[in-house]
Parts: sequence; C-alpha cells; structure tokens
Amino acid sequence: MDLHGTSIINDKGHLQIGGCDAVDLVSRFGTPLYVVDEALVRLRARQFNEAFQASGLKYQVAYASKAFSVMAMCVIAEQEGLSLDVVSDGELYTALQAGFPAQRIHFHGNNKTIAELDMALHADIGCFVVDNYYELELLNERAALQGKTANILLRITPGVEAHTHDYISTGQADSKFGFDLGNGSAEDAIIRASGYSHLSLLGVHSHIGSQIFEVEGFKLAVEKLSQFAIRMRDQHDIAFTVLNVGGGFGIRYTAEDSPLPVKEYIAAIADAVITNFNSAKYDIPEIWIEPGRSMVGDAGTTLYTVGSTKDIPGVRKYVAVDGGMTDNPRPALYQSKYHAILANRATDSNEETVSIAGKCCESGDMLIWDLELPKVNAGDVLAVFSTGAYNYAMASNYNRIRRPAVVFVKDGEADVVVERESLQQITCNDVVPARLQKTSLAK
Ligand code: LLP
Repeated sequence: MDLHGTSIINDKGHLQIGGCDAVDLVSRFGTPLYVVDEALVRLRARQFNEAFQASGLKYQVAYASKAFSVMAMCVIAEQEGLSLDVVSDGELYTALQAGFPAQRIHFHGNNKTIAELDMALHADIGCFVVDNYYELELLNERAALQGKTANILLRITPGVEAHTHDYISTGQADSKFGFDLGNGSAEDAIIRASGYSHLSLLGVHSHIGSQIFEVEGFKLAVEKLSQFAIRMRDQHDIAFTVLNVGGGFGIRYTAEDSPLPVKEYIAAIADAVITNFNSAKYDIPEIWIEPGRSMVGDAGTTLYTVGSTKDIPGVRKYVAVDGGMTDNPRPALYQSKYHAILANRATDSNEETVSIAGKCCESGDMLIWDLELPKVNAGDVLAVFSTGAYNYAMASNYNRIRRPAVVFVKDGEADVVVERESLQQITCNDVVPARLQKTSLAK
C-alpha cells in the first residue's frame, strides 16, 4: 500500500516521516508514540481552502477539533486560516489557551452546560450551533445576562443517511442531534429562533455522518437545506447568510478505502449550492464545512514496540505491542481496520500472517486482525498508519495505562506537542479520605 504524505522508506530500510527516521524517534521519545506529519496536515488545510477559492463562494473551513484537540494543532489551524469547531469546555479551553481567535470558534454539542455557554459567551466566540429548544431558551437567557447577542446556527437533521458505519451516522431522522426537517420541527425552531432578542440567527447546520466516500449524500443534504432556506424566505421572510454542511470526508485507513480528492467533495457541494440558490434568486450564503478526520487522520502514525507473541498452531499468531485500545479504541468500538508495517525492517518481505494485540486485560483489545508482516521479533517497531484522528482524542487510562506522547515531525525536526503521561499523573487526582487513613483492618 502507498505511504501517506511525506512518509518514505529510507536507505536504512526504515520508515521515515517528515524527514525523521522512525527508529530514531523511538529511541528519543519511546513507545507507544503518536507521530504527526505536519506538512500533510498543512497540505490538507490548503487543499480545502484552495477548493473553496476555486468555487468563488464565501466560505469558512472549520477544523473539527474533536478529531485531535491539542494546543499545537490549534496553532496550525490558526496559521492555515481555518476556523475551529469545539464541542466542550475542554476543547474551547485548549483553543483559547493556544491563542486561537475566538471569533473563528464555533461551539457544537447536544447538551452544552450553563457553565460552557457562559464561558463561550464570555470569550465572544463566533457562533453557537444550537441543537434543541432547551439550548435556544438557555442561550438567549445567558446571553442577556452578559448583555450580548450570540450568533447561532440551528442544527438540522436533513434525513440523509450517509453510507457509513451505523455508529457514526448522524443525519438520519432517528438521531439524538438537531431539529428534524421532515416533521416540521426545523421550521418551528427557525421561527422561534428569529424571535429571541439576544440571538442572531445566521442559518442552519447539518452533518450527515463520517468517513464518507461519495458526494451524493452531501449533494442531497445541500439540496434539502437550500430548499428549506428558500421556503423560510418565501413563507416567513427569514433569510440565511450561512449554510454549514458539516464534515465527514473519508480517508484511507487500508487499501480497501478509496476516498475522493478533497477538491471533488468541495466542488460537488459548491455546485449544488450555486445551482439551488441561483435558481431561486437567493443571495448565496457563506458555506461552512467542518472536516476533522480528513484534516489529520492520515497524517498520524502510531509507533509501538513488539513484545510477547503467542503462536497457536493452525489457529493464529498473536503479536502483542506496548499499547492497544487505550491509545486506539477504534477497532474495539467500530471494528475499524488499520494497516501497519515493521518500521525498522520496512524492506523485508512479508513471511507470516499475524494479529496485533494490545496489552489491556481484555480479549477485545485487538488492533489489527490478519496482517502480513516479515517474521516478527520482540523489539521490532510496528507502525500503524492513519491514526491521526480520534486516537489521541479518544485515548483513555484504562488499566491505568499512561497516554503516549505526541510528536510533530517536519523537515527532519521532531517536536513534542504532548508529553507522555507520567506515573505521578496517574494518581495525581486520587484522594484517600482521612477516615480511610485512620485504622488498618489488617491484623
Ligand atoms: N461536525 C460535526 C457536527 C460532527 O459531529 C463531526 C463528527 C464532525 C463535524 C467531524 O467529522 P469528520 O470530518 O471527522 O468525519 N469517533 C468516531 C467519529 C465520530 C465523529 C463525530 N462527529 C470515529 O472514531 O470514527
């Protein structure tokens, strides 16, 4: 399978990413290690921007930081002219700490707390994507208390089902998110939203799913949202200045995946927008998108050290690495598939079929089933590709395993952007109450 971004196999037969030899990275930073190809992240950001520039539309590309939210990534997003989508006080805090301009931050979520709304209002973020009536009322109230008017989009479920894994489809009618277009609740919400004195309605938002490889779903969503916008203008005299069509652009995890080039997704969206709005003589709204996975996914590689193996003759050979579902829960959660190679012997020919196990006390902790590799030895370095999105972001301390470090590599330089967790950090929030310390029951 082709390597991603700046990755190559160097003359030592080692995987090299961003000009850095993976074996050297392992000796400097240890394993497991998340490595991010900074040039590839920047390339993706530019591809989105250029595709929109070619369309002539007004636009914002908001990086969905849920895919990978760390301060260094927010800085890159800022430098590349992206906006930022956050879904919690933690992601908002990360962005603000990184100096990300608040006006380019959009706040999502189906149950934002009062404290989160207050924090975001206080920071003067650019837009709230309001999910339900409860939030509409609450946000208006909280904005009034701060003497502010909040820009809002309403999240709509357009009833478009993207062809993707069930767990990550969110555009269908049966969804915990948003106002339904089909049953009239979207229309009702628009009318109500435009009546609040501390809310300014910019338009609507929809997100039809994730890891999508076709343009049809996006085109259909745009068509439904545009028709809705036109009807709201004609029947209620309410005009939208923004249309947000969400994220969900697919990436290549294994050779089975064939994502479209970024520009094809954007061209299809732009064409649908232009056709639908022009035909109704409607001033074309600004188009916002929210790519997460496609911005950072294939730029990430996780390096592990191989430890124990268990060969069950005639059944399977398990090869265990020093990480697993704690740094990558996606195979266990979504049956996601990954590809990997031996980073220290990348030119050796494949000799055996093995399955890559994690180190957690749980049979479900498997990273890859049936992977072709050279004969694997303890101490080999396994590189698992396309781990940039929803890996560090979803990492846990299950089994009290420490979260790995993250390094950004570029032009032969490697910089830590998240330190490896220490053992002290594992217990730093633990408290043993005084009453437990008084006596010991042990005889
Ligand atoms: N906008 C909204 C409103 C979303 O809910 C999401 C993802 C995105 C944008 C970004 O979607 P992307 O471009 O990354 O596909 N943990 C799952 C993915 C959950 C996606 C949730 N929403 C996974 O690991 O596959």
